[in-house]
Amino acid sequence: MDRVNRYSAFLMLRLLICVGSSPLSVLFYTSSKVGLPAVLPCTVESHLESERAPHIQWQTVSDSVFERMGQEQFQGEAYINRADVPEHMLVKGNCSLFLQDVRFSDAGVYESYLVVGEPSKPVKSRIFLQSVQLVVVDHKAIRSVQLGSDLILDLHTHQAEQVIFQSSDDTDWTVLWEREGDVKKNGHLKEKDNKLILRRLSASSAGTYKVLDSQGLALSTVKVTITEPVLPKESEVLQIQSAYGKATTIVPPLSLITFFLVFEILCFSTG
Ligand SMILES: *[C@@H]1O[C@H](CO)[C@@H](O)[C@H](O)[C@H]1NC(C)=O
Repeated sequence: MDRVNRYSAFLMLRLLICVGSSPLSVLFYTSSKVGLPAVLPCTVESHLESERAPHIQWQTVSDSVFERMGQEQFQGEAYINRADVPEHMLVKGNCSLFLQDVRFSDAGVYESYLVVGEPSKPVKSRIFLQSVQLVVVDHKAIRSVQLGSDLILDLHTHQAEQVIFQSSDDTDWTVLWEREGDVKKNGHLKEKDNKLILRRLSASSAGTYKVLDSQGLALSTVKVTITEPVLPKESEVLQIQSAYGKATTIVPPLSLITFFLVFEILCFSTG
């Protein structure tokens, strides 16, 4: 009885170790700000047994993301022009997935596989390599801008569709800018290089600015406070003014003094 119990305990332990060492339990975690690139780590070195560049697949639970077989590659529909496992890195055993212009919808668990088998043979098998959880976060900032100067609002990505504004002493949001469409031509607003320039801020420009994507999700939130321009102190202004006044009224230009001196000397010597 005791022996049986010990044996089943041993079996349980074996099972736990097996589960523990199963690749599924190793989950990497990577976080990226929306619109920026992300690198999902992966190494394949230990599985490499030939000189050929490995055949790698990346996928999520629901989608194909990227596949590379030598120079041949495939990008999933949602990842067109955004996903890559660079070939020169893959030959060195680095199968990390490079994602560009990360979207909120990219968040989730990604898995990489090594496809093995002779290229000529139709039957292939896959070896699981890596699980990576990608977390996508928004941008947040607090800015202090001087009254009368410009605010440069970063749109971060071409996913930006709209900029809305809520004044500090208001609850309503107003649309300041839209990528498509004829948003009121505001002289204080200018878009350039994926940045929005708001010119000559007034006291009423204080508040919250949000950059939204096509789903209405906030890519970025910027809280802006307006500060008074820093002026010299009043006493300093007076001193500067009086010094300037003295200079002009009491001290005539040197050339004039010289002129009068020469004139006097001439008069004196001739008289
Ligand atoms: C693979 O390449 C990426 C990007 O250059 C790098 O961050 C990562 O550390 C590399 N991984 C290994 C195991 O060298």
